Amino acid sequence: MRMYDIIANKKHGKVLTKEEIEFVVKGYTAGEIPDYQVSALLMAICFQGMTAEETAILTMAMAHSGDMIDLSSIEGIKVDKHSTGGVGDKTTIVLAPLVAAAGVKVAKMSGRGLGHTGGTVDKLESFDGFKIEISEEQFIDNVNTHGIAVVGQSGDLAPADKKLYALRDVTATVDHIALIASSIMSKKIASGAEAIVLDVKCGSGAFMKNLDDARALGRAMVDIGKHVGRNTVAVVSDMSQPLGFAVGNALEIIEAIETLKGNGPEDLTALTIALGSRILVLAKVCDTIEAAEMQIKEMFANGKAVEKLKEWIGLQGGNVAAIDDYSLLPGAVHTRPVYLNETGYVKAIDAEEVGKSALLLGAGRETKESSIDLGVGLIIHNKIGDKVSKDEPVATIYYNDDRRLEEAVRTLVEAYEVTEEVVSKNTLIYDLID
Ligand code: URA
Repeated sequence: MRMYDIIANKKHGKVLTKEEIEFVVKGYTAGEIPDYQVSALLMAICFQGMTAEETAILTMAMAHSGDMIDLSSIEGIKVDKHSTGGVGDKTTIVLAPLVAAAGVKVAKMSGRGLGHTGGTVDKLESFDGFKIEISEEQFIDNVNTHGIAVVGQSGDLAPADKKLYALRDVTATVDHIALIASSIMSKKIASGAEAIVLDVKCGSGAFMKNLDDARALGRAMVDIGKHVGRNTVAVVSDMSQPLGFAVGNALEIIEAIETLKGNGPEDLTALTIALGSRILVLAKVCDTIEAAEMQIKEMFANGKAVEKLKEWIGLQGGNVAAIDDYSLLPGAVHTRPVYLNETGYVKAIDAEEVGKSALLLGAGRETKESSIDLGVGLIIHNKIGDKVSKDEPVATIYYNDDRRLEEAVRTLVEAYEVTEEVVSKNTLIYDLID
């Protein structure tokens, strides 16, 4: 088999065989096929596309390129959740204890990541003492006996995807639906997921800026799941404004705790119910979405969701007292109210710009080496459709270092679009794909 012929086949619109796709993935991971040939193939894929079957084969080849996590010693169906990422997305921190309280075994790997704020792992480290690196034995034992454990990504998961993603990043081939779908799904499958619930974000703060692309990505991932025997459902949700009100690590932890206590923002609560009920059905804890939704709501109302959060944080060494006393979480020394120069209705809040503002305050990492300040960030006080006045702050910034404060304030102000006309509220869930 020759790489040259594989590139030529795809250039002419042919469907690649399993052998050809596996040859590319193995050869590239082993360093036997050079970047320039794989770049040519990736570009040919961007123009000619891949069938659902080719995409599924690529996914499995990438999943099998490194460690495959074996969760078979955990009873029950292991359902994983993945979000394509957005500003203020603290859903995992609410969902994990919520569905664990309802009887799902939550065995989750989470990452840090570059971004406007830290990833789930960074946010969890707001709890003093919380250990994200626990042994495999402890991880399995915690899940079997308490129903929940979250660990940092370890091992060599889907190295082919890592290498391919880095190459796509510099060859303008990231934004191809089949390549994105296979990349995401390969990592979920390598980390042991038997069923997958996807939250595909759509809007200014998301990877997918428009609804057609977000739907296509959701559909492509659900199709991969079907081909490879992993029950997969996708929820396409709004990211044209931040999720909830808090953006920043400890601030998002507080919002997640309040949500588990039943006092959360409407959108975050609704999204966790939508995702959580699908997790319960895929895990076969409930037979129908309606029954699952009732069970989830019950976990909020009877306090079991927040009790499970306490159990989980305590098991992993975190300071449980912080769940009832937020002064024990990292904080900011200063606050600054942010005003707009207009009175009217909020028409848009560019989520990406809000995220940038949080990043400027130090809430996220600009490079892998940057350190983050868990205590800083911002709280927006309104959502799209709300009335705002120039005499009342639209947001509060929490900061420790004022070096880039003015730029952060400016960025946040520019994120808002205000109009005199009444604006309707945004739809939260655009589509459900299964
Ligand atoms: N996220 C991923 O994990 N992979 C992609 O290709 C794009 C976004």
